[in-house]
Amino acid sequence: MRTLAAPPSGGRTWTDLDDFQRFIDDGGMVEPSDDMPTEFRDEVFRFIEFHANSELMGGLTERDWIPHAPGLRLKQIFLAKTQDEIGHAHLLYMVAADMGVKSRTEMLEDLFAGRSRFHNVFHYQAVTWADQVAIAFLVDAAAFASQRAVFAECSYGPYKRILKRIVAEEGFHMRHGEEMLLRLATGTAIQHDMFQDALERWWWPAVQLFGPDSPPGELDPLLRWRIKSERNEVLRDAYVQKYVPLLHSYGFDIPDDGLHLDGDGRWVTSDIDWEPLKATMRQGGPDSARRIATAAANWADTAWVREALA
Ligand SMILES: [Fe+2]
Ligand SMILES: [Fe+2]
Repeated sequence: MRTLAAPPSGGRTWTDLDDFQRFIDDGGMVEPSDDMPTEFRDEVFRFIEFHANSELMGGLTERDWIPHAPGLRLKQIFLAKTQDEIGHAHLLYMVAADMGVKSRTEMLEDLFAGRSRFHNVFHYQAVTWADQVAIAFLVDAAAFASQRAVFAECSYGPYKRILKRIVAEEGFHMRHGEEMLLRLATGTAIQHDMFQDALERWWWPAVQLFGPDSPPGELDPLLRWRIKSERNEVLRDAYVQKYVPLLHSYGFDIPDDGLHLDGDGRWVTSDIDWEPLKATMRQGGPDSARRIATAAANWADTAWVREALA
């Protein structure tokens, strides 16, 4: 539903979608003041809204674990990480709202009512501290890889500029995940087992985060318009090639009986069951309802801050 006025005119215009495509193919950068095609606006808006929602839901998960983080140093790190993620959400909601499709309030209302989507990994519950380590090590790395691929070529100016900062901070999160993993991997047998258990829960959601194979050829509009610069299956494969040997080298087993090396020495996973991913997109993941209700309750609890500021 378009509820806001179109962005101010005075920017670039295009005669039709082909004309717009030529501009994109020549390396052009679209700005909010441009008279961008409706298809582009809607598709890019949906993508950024999904990203913003994911940052907010991820930040709330980090927040939940601040009291449980073992020791002051880790509490400080998780506090900082929470602030980073909520900050990412703020920046992205601002960029999305400027596209004139929905206001920030409408986006938040849709999220809390379960009408809009967010990353599959935030539809699962973190059960132990080792799950938090798995999230930092596996999920932040998967998110980093896909965001970096968007940042590389992104044709929408405000999104690309914001991603520069987000990707830099996600790089820190990923490094911190590696540090925490090393501690468990080189720790006691109990710590090792705890991470192995967490890996059983988080390996597949992390792999599924990249999504099913991109449609063939130029059929994915996000690739055609250079919002994404890499196909889902390419990013997913690069992730598998990096993380399988890494986890093996730390002495962990990947929960995939069909995982094997092909003739070229590349890791091949079993066929991926996409049903769990699809369930999360319908808000039907194992922890979707609680997560959304918690986020909505948090929004209601903090209404007094917004009122005081207003
Ligand atoms: Fe983030
Ligand atoms: Fe992060």
